[in-house]
Parts: sequence; structure tokens; C-alpha cells
Amino acid sequence: MELKNDLLLRAIRGEKVERTPVWLMRQAGRILPEYRAVRNSVSGFIELAKTPDLAAEVTIQPVDILGVDAAIIFSDILVVPEAMGLPYEMVEKRGPWFPKTIGSLSDLKQLRVPDPHVELHYVLEAIRVTKKALNGRVPLIGFAGAPWTIFAYMVEGSGSKTFSKARAMLYTQPDFSHKLLDMITSTTIRYLKAQAEAGANLVQIFDSWAGILPPTQYREFSLPYIDKICNAITEVPVTVFAKGAFFAREEMGQLNCDTIGLDWNMGISESRKLIGSGKALQGNLDPAALYGTEKGIMDATQKMMKEFEGAKHVANLGHGVYPDIDPYKVKLFVESVKAYKAD
Ligand code: CP3
Repeated sequence: MELKNDLLLRAIRGEKVERTPVWLMRQAGRILPEYRAVRNSVSGFIELAKTPDLAAEVTIQPVDILGVDAAIIFSDILVVPEAMGLPYEMVEKRGPWFPKTIGSLSDLKQLRVPDPHVELHYVLEAIRVTKKALNGRVPLIGFAGAPWTIFAYMVEGSGSKTFSKARAMLYTQPDFSHKLLDMITSTTIRYLKAQAEAGANLVQIFDSWAGILPPTQYREFSLPYIDKICNAITEVPVTVFAKGAFFAREEMGQLNCDTIGLDWNMGISESRKLIGSGKALQGNLDPAALYGTEKGIMDATQKMMKEFEGAKHVANLGHGVYPDIDPYKVKLFVESVKAYKAD
């Protein structure tokens, strides 16, 4: 299927684009009342994610309502632990919770490297339904968590400010840690390949908890696994977003991927120098900027766009959009990117 709007893919390849493409991390769900309406028609997040027609519907909502240049499939990074044998629950207002966690070598026997065509069939079906319904309007982004971030949830059992149980494991049981990270990596490679085969036009790896590791630990327990995934995914472009990993930008520049996501702590020109000109950069407006006035949002967007000028760029926020941001303000950000004219 020929894409009618392929700005995102062309920008990543460094081809000439009429304007910078824009989308938002966590654009599906969270902020839109239209999402809440669909969400309230089912028992909860998990049922919604497992119903391909509804997942497709909420995936496309931000394309219709916000005018973004890409859709991201409605799912979660935590479907991977579930497929490996560790189910999760989404507790209203509190977030994910795992009744069972993994804490030792013997626990690994409870886990498997699943076949995504079986255990994650519902995500692949949602991708196929979405692609059909999008009818080439914009590219569809697939995604997975980075092995370290998935490891953190599997060991900790829920979200956490410090993930101290997960971090402790890297010191107390490094062999176990590498074995679990290896299993997650193999699963993720199969899963992302299946997403590409089902129709995802590019994929993003979210290392949401990169920033809680010291650089040496990050180099040992996260980067090599992301590197392995990047080398294995040859079917579609890959974006790596490692939140808080400012200390690893030089190494990220060496990854076999197409785009590096920047959070709002990472200076733009400094990141360009550290990462190099080969890769597209994605980001990186502070999501909290969208709490500002209309003028404030337009000015902040302009300033960001100017700083990225002259190099491959995909406009986005520096992390997911916050749930209580007014959708009108989100749309203003999207429109400000679209209206931006380089000098
Ligand atoms: O980007 C999108 O809009 C597509 C869907 C998407 C979801 N989760 C849906 C979701 C994506 C890309 C994710 C990724 C994800 N999930 C990450 C990485 C990105 C990031 O923000 O750092 C992480 C760390 C998770 C884990 C997770 N899932 C948490 C911590 C929570 C609870 C708090 C929250 O973010 O809402 C979730 C739940 C979740 N994932 C919801 C949605 C729409 C809310 C569930 C609901 O509707 O009740």
C-alpha cells in the first residue's frame, strides 16, 4: 500500500521534506475523551488492547483529531512479559501490577521465549486491522520496551520511583540478570519482526528506565541488548528512545538504528554533536510546556524547531504526553510544528 503521507519515513532517510513530521509519544489513549468513551465500553485497558477492532479505532483517533503524521499501535510494552509467562494487571490510577515476579535462576523455568504469532497474535491482528483502516493515510509505528525496562518491571512487579529491587539484581545476581535480559531480547526480536511483517512501517524501542542506571551498568545491562535488537531488525527503520540516558548519547550514535529519541534534558546541538549527523533525531519539547499559554506553546515549539534545523528531525515531545493535558493544547503543538518555516 502506497503511503499518502510518508513525511516521517522520508525525514528519517534524510530526503527533502516539505515540512518536519510530527507525532507524540503516548498519543493514543490518555488525553482524548474519545479514547475514554471507547475504554469505558470494555472492562479495561487489557480487554481494549486485546480487541483488534477497538485497538485500531483508538490508534487512529489521534490521526483524525490531532492531525499527527503517524499512528502508533495501541498496545503496551508489558504485553511482552505476559507472553513470556508473567501476566500483568492494569490497576486504575496506579498502573501496571504483576502478581508473580522473577527473582532467581530457577524462576526462569517458568518463562518461555514465545511465538509472537501465537501469544501476541492480538497485537499483530490489531496492526493488520489498523493498516487496512488507515488506508495509507500515515505510517504506522510498532513498538516494544527495551530489555532493561522490561526486566525492571518483571523483577520489581510494578512501577517504582527507584526500581531498587531490579537495580539490586544487577549487583547481586548478574548471571541471572544477563540470562533474563537475553530471553527478553530474543522475544523482542521475534516480536518486532512479526510487527513489521504485519505492516508496521517502523518500530520504536522504549527504554523508559534507562536513566536510573549509572553509565557503567547501562553499558553492561542495557546497550548491548538494544544493539542486538537493532542489528536483527533489518525490515523497517528503528528508533531508539532511552529516557534519561544522556550519558550514553555517543554510544547511541553507534547503534545500527535510524533515529534516536531525545528527552527534554538532552540539549539539541550538543546531542547532534555526540550522536553525529547520520541519524535522525526525534523530540524533544518538555511535555510540561503544554501546560503553558497558547503563546507559550507556540514560542517553545518555534524555539525547538529552530534548534533542530538543518538536520534530520522528527518533531515530538521529550516523553509521553501527560494525561491531564488539554487536547486543544496538544493540537496547538502539532499545528505549530506544521506551520514552522525554516529561515
Ligand atoms: O503511545 C501510545 O499512545 C500507544 C500506546 C502505548 C501505551 N503504553 C498505552 C497505555 C505505549 C507506546 C505504551 C508504552 C509504555 N507502557 C511505556 C513506555 C513509554 C513511556 O511512557 O515511557 C511504559 C513505561 C509503559 C508501562 C505502563 N503502561 C504504565 C507505567 C502505565 C500506567 C500509567 C500510564 O502511563 O497510563 C501503563 C498503562 C497504559 N498504557 C495506558 C495506556 C493508554 C493507560 C491505561 C488505561 O487506559 O487505563
